[in-house]
Amino acid sequence: MRPRISGLLRAMSRSHGLSPAEVAEIQNSFDRMWPRSNVMVDLFYDRLFELVPDSRPLFRDDMANLKRKFISTLAVIVGSLDNLSGLLSVADKLARDHVHYGVTASHYAPVGEALLWSMREGLGTHWTPAVEDAWTKLYVFLSGRMIAAAYA
Ligand code: HEM
Repeated sequence: MRPRISGLLRAMSRSHGLSPAEVAEIQNSFDRMWPRSNVMVDLFYDRLFELVPDSRPLFRDDMANLKRKFISTLAVIVGSLDNLSGLLSVADKLARDHVHYGVTASHYAPVGEALLWSMREGLGTHWTPAVEDAWTKLYVFLSGRMIAAAYA
């Protein structure tokens, strides 16, 4: 990547840019999802392996264990929206670890599609346009940050 572009990407990925109302949409919808998060996470991985079958062999750990780690990390991220430096350090560590798992930048978009789709399924009528916009913004920020941290 050209140095100027990678510098700009890093600069853009320093702040999530979510308004307090958007942060509240994310946190409230995540709380609502929490009691059924195991269903949501099952749907997420099923959808991911449908959308990107070649990502399946990258997952070598026990899936039940991974699903627990995934949902608890998502909880940490959602709980860190008011603590930018905490959020950025979680994202940067995840990004570096994901390079070792064989994940590439092009995987991030379909993972986001699968994640948002599973949340929509899980939340039903509570998946409002405001909730969708806020989660989309968060995922775009997070994946941009992770891609910049890992590959720029
Ligand atoms: C916001 C984005 C993402 C989050 C929050 C996330 C979260 C996690 C977490 C918590 C783990 C458990 C191990 C660890 O803590 O490092 C993990 C592992 C993993 N993730 Fe992600 N991930 C994300 C994006 C992706 C993407 C885009 C892919 C591409 C397919 C991916 C594939 C994997 C793989 C292959 C593993 C390792 C599984 C194993 O050890 O067998 N993740 N992820």
